[in-house]
Amino acid sequence: RTVYVNGEYLPEHEAKVSIFDRAFLMADGVYEVTSVLDGKLIDFDGHAKRLQRSLDELDMKSPVTMDELLEIHRELVRVNEIDEGLVYLQVTRGAPADRDFVFPDPETTEPTLVLFTQSKPGLADSPAAKRGMKVISIEDQRWGRRDIKTVQLLYPSMGKMMAKKAGADDAWMVEDGFVTEGTSNNAYIIKGNTIITRALSNDILHGITRAAVLRFAREAQMQVEERNYTIDEAKEADEAFITSASTFVMPVIEIDGTPVGEGTPGPRAARLREIYLEESR
Ligand code: PDD
Repeated sequence: RTVYVNGEYLPEHEAKVSIFDRAFLMADGVYEVTSVLDGKLIDFDGHAKRLQRSLDELDMKSPVTMDELLEIHRELVRVNEIDEGLVYLQVTRGAPADRDFVFPDPETTEPTLVLFTQSKPGLADSPAAKRGMKVISIEDQRWGRRDIKTVQLLYPSMGKMMAKKAGADDAWMVEDGFVTEGTSNNAYIIKGNTIITRALSNDILHGITRAAVLRFAREAQMQVEERNYTIDEAKEADEAFITSASTFVMPVIEIDGTPVGEGTPGPRAARLREIYLEESR
């Protein structure tokens, strides 16, 4: 696989970053994951805008323009012949001369930019979408700026492991009694013709897939309510689902062992997945 590091396209085994890189020492970096379908990037503009916002919130700068980033994405998709898959991008505050809690001077420490692709044949036609996912609920113990897409992913990773150990596919995180989001996705329930999902704030990542899916849902005459809901309300919903760049729309069929609706992927979630894939392609 060819990867990109700080201006160079290299075979992955030749790519290097410093051990003093602040992402390595302090998780001082932000990232984006953009999906690829039929060799084309989905919603690149949305991801570029969110990246810029993450950088601004942390007083970091991108080493290249957003147009250059698009070119790098396209080049990696081309050289790695990605038909279905993902492009991962990470910008870090770079590698100062030594470890220090204080941010380094941006005049002397350049940010680090890394991109790589992941080929995922069958991403759109995923069997998991037909089967549906099982989730467990766990307490949300992440930091309070989840709107910034940082590489601090240890708690979400632990959440996935807790789910795995419990025989489930993922975890929905709960704070003050209300669902925030999944470990790496936004979480929704459906009651009747109404889609319910937590409103945007610092408590959750402002999903790019979320924005598209809510727009398509409204266009398809479904109602959308952006509000808090509890795990108990979710268990009693007609349907549930998640969204993310790597899963698109994925039905949730079980929460903490309780079947949601019939315990099979619901018709509205399935329809939203179809619409999302049609409209994005
Ligand atoms: N995760 N919430 C969290 C905590 C996420 O990590 C993600 C994305 C989302 C969905 O955002 P989007 O629709 O823009 O992908 C919501 C990516 C896919 C990841 O970490 O791999």
